[in-house]
Amino acid sequence: MDIERTLAALTLPEKAALVSGKNNWYTAAVKRLEIPALMMTDGPSGLRKQKPGSEADFTDSIQAIAFPTAALSASSWNESLLQKMGEHLGEEARAEQVSLLLGPGINLKRSPLGGRNFEYFSEDPLVAGKLGSAYVKGVQSQHVGVAVKHFAANNRENQRFTASSDMSERTLRELYLRTFEIVVKAALPATVMTSYNKINGVLNSQNQRLLRSILRDEWGFHGAVMSDWGAVADHPQALRAGLDLEMPGKGQASVDEIIRAIDTGELDEGTLNKSVRHLLHIIDNWAPAEKPSTYDHEAHHNFARTVADDSIVLLKNHANELPLTPGHEGKLVVIGELAEKPRYQGSGSSHVNPTNLVTPLAALQNSDLKADYYPGYRLDQSETDDTLAQTALTAAKNADHVIVFAGYPESAESEGFDKNSLMLPENQGDLVGQLAKLNPHTTVILQNGSAVEMPWIHSTAAVVETYLAGESVGESTWDIITGAVNPSGHLTETFPRRLTDTPMAPTFGQDPHHEYYTEGIFMGYRYYDTHEMHVLFPFGHGLSYTNFEYSKLVIDQNEHGATVTFGITNTGDRIGQAVPQLYVANHSTHKPMPTKELRAFTKLSIDPHETKLVTFKLNRRDFSWWCEPKQRWEADTGDYEIMIGESSRDIRLQTKLTMDFKNSPAPITTETYFAQVVQEPRLRDLFQRIVLDSEQDRTNNFLTIKDDAGNLVLMQNQMFLNMPLRAAVALGVPANLISSFIAAANDH
Ligand code: BGC
Repeated sequence: MDIERTLAALTLPEKAALVSGKNNWYTAAVKRLEIPALMMTDGPSGLRKQKPGSEADFTDSIQAIAFPTAALSASSWNESLLQKMGEHLGEEARAEQVSLLLGPGINLKRSPLGGRNFEYFSEDPLVAGKLGSAYVKGVQSQHVGVAVKHFAANNRENQRFTASSDMSERTLRELYLRTFEIVVKAALPATVMTSYNKINGVLNSQNQRLLRSILRDEWGFHGAVMSDWGAVADHPQALRAGLDLEMPGKGQASVDEIIRAIDTGELDEGTLNKSVRHLLHIIDNWAPAEKPSTYDHEAHHNFARTVADDSIVLLKNHANELPLTPGHEGKLVVIGELAEKPRYQGSGSSHVNPTNLVTPLAALQNSDLKADYYPGYRLDQSETDDTLAQTALTAAKNADHVIVFAGYPESAESEGFDKNSLMLPENQGDLVGQLAKLNPHTTVILQNGSAVEMPWIHSTAAVVETYLAGESVGESTWDIITGAVNPSGHLTETFPRRLTDTPMAPTFGQDPHHEYYTEGIFMGYRYYDTHEMHVLFPFGHGLSYTNFEYSKLVIDQNEHGATVTFGITNTGDRIGQAVPQLYVANHSTHKPMPTKELRAFTKLSIDPHETKLVTFKLNRRDFSWWCEPKQRWEADTGDYEIMIGESSRDIRLQTKLTMDFKNSPAPITTETYFAQVVQEPRLRDLFQRIVLDSEQDRTNNFLTIKDDAGNLVLMQNQMFLNMPLRAAVALGVPANLISSFIAAANDH
């Protein structure tokens, strides 16, 4: 398409129509100019292409592969796997003529109560940013664009349309925008979807600073910005702020509204043209191929299984309770209705109609394991069903091994509302506790979208976190239990011991209009580790059926960053995958700083007794923090510590280093303290020359004293040092001399 010619040929009503969705799933077409409509569908872990005429029922979509939700797939810490998952999703979208896939959701999991955490990658912006980027690259490699969502700081579901996420600029930059910055710069997403909420009082879909200054001017975003569904309050204002597409549109009312705004001068046609231009580019780039394609459903189902296999997290494995190899399981009892009716996907806009759901019970019956099954509880209620519970307990008493499935039912966890507890439903929690006490060989298999409290943890033999594992949930669960697959998933969020340990517990969701991010940058492990709090399972934690030993940490550094190299040896007898994590601690700043922050990670497969070398490159940004007064990233010259671990609490190697970053110094202002002037030779000399030497009577001020040799020098007592330059007037120095000094000090 010749974008500029097409733009010039469009009438005002046509342009007004283009910036509003035609309906829920299509952009407007302009037949006259052969501009096609683009189709978009949810969602992040499987296609939700509504069946024609089923607009009202979001569960009535075509069949598609239900891949693991992001809570699980992110636990793989595997960028190439996420890229392949993106390719699979892209292939499916292309087969259905879908141009834009409405995902991935890359918001951070700030509180474990967040109703949509299952759809998000991590509490850490690097993990979410890198895995999100891999996903986007995968989808877009299949000629399908994405909508990276929900921009930004959309971390609670209650009152999500109106609540304001209130936080400091540093918190916003270092955590909640950081993920988007990584994805926008690394993966060039076709579109970004703004979220419903406000940030510090301004609606995101109408926030010029967010949409223009930061997203486009600072990060160089070239795609189109669309709104979340119904997120726009004032469309002309949103267009002025930098939104390109309101979704879904309001039909003729949207067109009339834009024309009226142009007529009254509320909206400038040049501004409208900018948005139309962005949309024409998107339509030109991502319009579907003429010929529909197909994909191999079975291969895609098997790939969903691979993703889950690579991601399921072995949280606890006392005395090698697992794996349970077929033939050695003895009398095995499987308990829990979730084995029969698993929770394997999220609820809300990411809901998928799976092609081939394999339940844990069905997969068990197909396996070489022999086991008896008892439902133990009813999923549709939280009260204990005594008959079901007693039957299960009786069977478990004399079993060699007990495997109990537990988790949050769909009614407890969904898009659109937040949770208010981290406890399992009472009937499940009680049963798990009793089973674990009754039989020391009890393994708990969890199906849930986010962290759970585990008051029974100490009595269990093993705990496996399968999150929401997609349609191959059954196959993957037994792959891990039997050891057909060596577990290699690691948590991308902290599991706190209890809800009240979370830093935002007293305020989360309390104010209907505001969410106060009072913990600032101290969120997730940044909080628990800095305060040395006990946690149930730390960020980054995950066990394997083999062991890894870390060795020989070598650092090569210069003024731009550092290269960190070390070895990992698989000391066991099975092939396994390690997830080395690099954390940086900044010891050189006076700013509040978490004790450690993740700055690099990877995943690698290592054969038994093999050693592999890992190299991480750190650049200046990896040592930086957001400086609010200077409105830029700042890297301090000084001492740091590099830590390599298998979780934020399991540090295997660490070393100190001193970095020398050439910072351009902070500007000198009337607020600069005399302490700085006295300490820095350049400033001291300038002050001497410009202020002291030019004074007629140098003893007429209180700045100077005689030194031992009788020379007049700057006074150096504590009270004076603790005064800013503007106070010099009170000390008898003419204000114009101070201004001249400031100008000279900044001119270098
Ligand atoms: C959700 C989005 C989703 C959209 C379309 C909204 O309610 O927040 O994530 O893509 O609906 O279904």
